[in-house]
Amino acid sequence: MCGIVGYTGPRQGAGLVLDGLKRLEYRGYDSAGLAVVDSGRLEVVKAAGKIAALERALGAHPPAGHTALAHTRWATHGAPTDANAHPHTDCGGTLALVHNGIIENATVLRAALVQRGHQLRSETDSEVLVHLIEELHLGGAPLLDAVSGALAQVEGAYGIGVVSTREPDTLVAARRGSPLLVAIGDGEHFIASDASAVLAHTRSVVYLDDGEIAVVRPGDYRILDLAAVERVKAVSRIDWDLATIERGGYAHFMLKEILEQPETLRNVLRGRLVEDDGDVHLGGLNVTDADLLAVDRIVLTGCGSSWHAALIGEYMLEELARLPVEVEYASEFRYRNPIVDERTLVVGLSQSGETADTLAALREAKRRGARTLGIVNVVGSTIAREVDGGIYLHAGPEIGVASTKAFTGQIAALALLTLKMGRLRALSILQGREVVRGLAHLPALAQRALAQAPVVERIADQLVATTNALYLGRGYNFPVALEGALKLKEISYIHAEGYPAAEMKHGPIALIDDKMPVVFIAPRDAVYQKVVSNLEEVKTRGARVLAVVTEGDTGLARLADYQVEIPETLDLLTPILSVLPLQLLAYYVAVRRGCNVDQPRNLAKSVTVE
Ligand code: AGP
Repeated sequence: MCGIVGYTGPRQGAGLVLDGLKRLEYRGYDSAGLAVVDSGRLEVVKAAGKIAALERALGAHPPAGHTALAHTRWATHGAPTDANAHPHTDCGGTLALVHNGIIENATVLRAALVQRGHQLRSETDSEVLVHLIEELHLGGAPLLDAVSGALAQVEGAYGIGVVSTREPDTLVAARRGSPLLVAIGDGEHFIASDASAVLAHTRSVVYLDDGEIAVVRPGDYRILDLAAVERVKAVSRIDWDLATIERGGYAHFMLKEILEQPETLRNVLRGRLVEDDGDVHLGGLNVTDADLLAVDRIVLTGCGSSWHAALIGEYMLEELARLPVEVEYASEFRYRNPIVDERTLVVGLSQSGETADTLAALREAKRRGARTLGIVNVVGSTIAREVDGGIYLHAGPEIGVASTKAFTGQIAALALLTLKMGRLRALSILQGREVVRGLAHLPALAQRALAQAPVVERIADQLVATTNALYLGRGYNFPVALEGALKLKEISYIHAEGYPAAEMKHGPIALIDDKMPVVFIAPRDAVYQKVVSNLEEVKTRGARVLAVVTEGDTGLARLADYQVEIPETLDLLTPILSVLPLQLLAYYVAVRRGCNVDQPRNLAKSVTVE
């Protein structure tokens, strides 16, 4: 959604928060701004467009001051303009506020504020907050109390930062729904939406939970709840370094993250495979085998690519653990009246661990007595902290908005969970060992599949002018067809659809002609022959076909116009290899179309509002 960073300490704040903001640009990038407090004066600079536009607006001499607040936006209410950019100030220029989230009762509050004589300068929902704080703060309340008093009047989700000329070295931050942390420095402190903004200065952070408010000064910080009760919070240590969030010489984060997958697959498997037992060791699951044996149903839930990974998990768990599994769009699950109980295991998949719909779906499941697990990449994220247990992907920060290494990490984590549940039920030690060995070979097989990048790049040249595309697969690779289509859609803006290959004849085949490229995911698995006949159906209607095939499969080469090979592996693990050429294809087509691959239009890396 949006990115927030704030600083208070002995150093000049503007430069520090600007640098931090650049690391958060992947969260939202349609307008940005910052505010600096210096000896009773407040200076605010904001600009529509990327952070570079803000830098230009700041010029060579950014405002001086030791307390600063900055924001990069992903607009929900009010177009991306200078006026709608954050920070927003109160009528007299005493206060500045940045907000990540949505104030649901903003319209009512705005009308009342205007009635009471306030001048609102933007179309945003966020601005009402700073005027509510103004009323209490200028009425004599200290900033902390004014902020919690104002928050008591709002409905919706927020992560906010506030500064005041009346308390020049104070930052107040509060969260309900949107992520926020306090970063502890030596005689200085930061607030930020995520740790990447502060890693250059400290590794010690305190994550705020919903309903918490922090007052931060150079020498200290306090965390309280909205009823002003002190909270004692653990300090977490960030274990990844700045290099992992740098592009490392690649043209784009997305390409770096695609080519990192052999290593990220090693990371998600490290220390978790127990070949002798044909089983796994999942230290973070935090449940006993008896608890897992009591489970009689699994619900997998998530959004976007995480939902696609969940679909693959359904196939795995049903086939090898013999458990009934449902896959739910989190945004639907949270508002339906789902049937879950204490024997249901609800697993939320989320790279960011902050996606509002997935978080709400897990909270709903928990409310109904279900046991909840998270398959999450961002350590210390809200979902990771709220579920009963889980599996971290250890894929390192994923900066490219289009998920790649997290997607394959999620599938590998689901295979680990499947082994765990399967060995407790239906899977023999020999079957378990076969899956363990298959997983252990994956990083090397992924390396081999990625060596096909030049082949994919040449195919991308053929597809760059297309306006539509169809992706088809069956079984484990039907969800890969969905994922391949999503990758092309979200970064190259080409309309694409993924479909179970057999569904074609029930309608979509009408779309087929020589202008419609069709991508078949056709490894030599249990449904291979079925896919071949689907490919022939499409070929006879003149489609241009790209086929992802198993190494050495010359049979399909005869039929397909283009083909990319992937190494052989177990059926349930083929998606981890077959998606790689599809990630590369989307990447190369988008680059050729001059799209902003890492920050595609209208998208944000983690969607913390519903
Ligand atoms: C995928 O490329 C997209 N960025 C998006 O669909 C994403 O998967 C979705 O927003 C879920 O995000 P999460 O995994 O962080 O919860």
